[in-house]
Amino acid sequence: MSRTRTAILASMALVAGATGAAAAASQADIGIAAIPCTVTYTVQNQWSTGFTAAVNVTNNSAAKSSWAVKWSYAGNQQVTSGWNAKFSQSGTAVTVANETYNGTLATGGSVSFGFNGSYSGTNALPTTFTLDGVTCNVDGGGGPTDPGPGTGTKVDNPYTGAKVYVNPEWSAKAAAETGGSRISNQPTGVWLDRIAAINGVNGGMGLRAHLDAALQQKGTGELVVQLVIYNLPGRDCAALASNGELGPTEIDKYKTQYIDPIAAILADTKYAGLRIVTTVEIDSLPNLVTNTGSRPTATPECDVMKANGNYVKGVGYALNKLGDVPNVYNYVDAGHHGWIGWDDNFGPSADLFKQAATAEGATVNDVHGFITNTANYSALKENNFTINDTVAGKSVRESKWVDWNRYTDELSFAQAFRNQLVTVGFPSTIGMLIDTSRNGWGGTARPTGPGATTTVDTYVDGGRYDRRFQLGNWCNQSGAGLGERPKAAPATGIDAYVWMKPPGESDGSSSAIPNNEGKGFDRMCDPTYTGNARNNFNMSGALPNSPVSGHWFSAQFQELMRNAYPAL
Ligand code: GLC
Repeated sequence: MSRTRTAILASMALVAGATGAAAAASQADIGIAAIPCTVTYTVQNQWSTGFTAAVNVTNNSAAKSSWAVKWSYAGNQQVTSGWNAKFSQSGTAVTVANETYNGTLATGGSVSFGFNGSYSGTNALPTTFTLDGVTCNVDGGGGPTDPGPGTGTKVDNPYTGAKVYVNPEWSAKAAAETGGSRISNQPTGVWLDRIAAINGVNGGMGLRAHLDAALQQKGTGELVVQLVIYNLPGRDCAALASNGELGPTEIDKYKTQYIDPIAAILADTKYAGLRIVTTVEIDSLPNLVTNTGSRPTATPECDVMKANGNYVKGVGYALNKLGDVPNVYNYVDAGHHGWIGWDDNFGPSADLFKQAATAEGATVNDVHGFITNTANYSALKENNFTINDTVAGKSVRESKWVDWNRYTDELSFAQAFRNQLVTVGFPSTIGMLIDTSRNGWGGTARPTGPGATTTVDTYVDGGRYDRRFQLGNWCNQSGAGLGERPKAAPATGIDAYVWMKPPGESDGSSSAIPNNEGKGFDRMCDPTYTGNARNNFNMSGALPNSPVSGHWFSAQFQELMRNAYPAL
């Protein structure tokens, strides 16, 4: 493989199937420099005489080589032991100084530490924090003033021990299909894909209606509701099928008419007992890494969104506002292995996610985890080959299919990317969600063993479950099936397998269809299309006769059931 080709393929920029900035804007560009520091103080656990707290500090002023954070208690709280920093206390005044290994605090950098404390009476939260004598902004956090199920204490994995909300509207469509009752009781995501979805589109259920229905499904147990936050300005910049209602500059409208009203509803105490999972802005930030600048896959629209910073600002704003609601668990979209699994994309994507998670007042503690593969078609596990195999002296990475990617499947990618995210500063408690709604690849075409060891290509192509023409194909893929059923804590580092993209909802129309949703016609959804740089000029692999993205596509639903793996 020549150098040029490698470079092009390594930068392959692929849009995800749900809908499809050399470095993004600087901090000055995105306007967060005014707040010198932000502190999140969270009581993670509390009992009658003691508590455990976590503190995260983000430095927005000049870089530091040592630091000290101070606060005072209103009550008789006493720090008894701490970690990741040196603690001292005099009366009610607490001073926390860096350890030798975490004294460096870059501009925009964060540091976290934790401690156990004792108290009696009320464990009131401190209200003022300083970093090196400068007063910080206090963000989110909070504590279990009224400990008990769903009253403000986040659990590590919201899916553990909980049912997950079944969207009655999707369920009815699924049940109306022949054979659909086999899966119509599965939980799927509720997509807030436009402002009108908050109150309900065309008489359909709005956010409150879903949350009220969720309370009914909850009963006395725990229940997760899965929401998709999906309405960024200039949405879907590398494709046309899921362009949205907001133009590239309409960030204020995004904030005040979309995020603020959603946050206000979620903060209603009536819903405090629900575990609300939000997946934040599918298919947005990775586009700024892979589809901008000098990349052969760049689009003018993604260049605009990188330059104006509105994806970063929008995601930061959403994380901050939604993260302030004690029972909201934010999971940021993290593409999938066939998009950011290449070395050129992997690290830079994690860095950009960190930037977005510390923009607009957000901190890394507003992020509970990340979601991958929403809902693309990459297999969860490719069992017939690994990235370390070689055939006739060539690495699997040199096969046409893998094409120098570092990962062969979603599970290995999600676990590795989680580690990368922790390395760049996200809390070590983050968990991953993997959308398995359409990555099953069962049915008669599923290989039963490895391919022939003639060449690395016969080996990989003969053994791979994923039967797409190319990893970059994302629209209504022919031959795909339902994947793993939704499941809590299925593997190390994975909070759940979820069906965030509701099976049966189209990725885009196979020919132009006028609509009032802002959706365009992307030829990646046309089965006769021979491709572009983002799928290395392969056939699109799309099913024919598909409707506009998000609309019900019965033929695809039937095929997904037929090719389910595990089988239905
Ligand atoms: C696509 C559509 C969106 C829909 C979602 C779930 O992203 O653009 O309107 O809600 O898929 O099917």
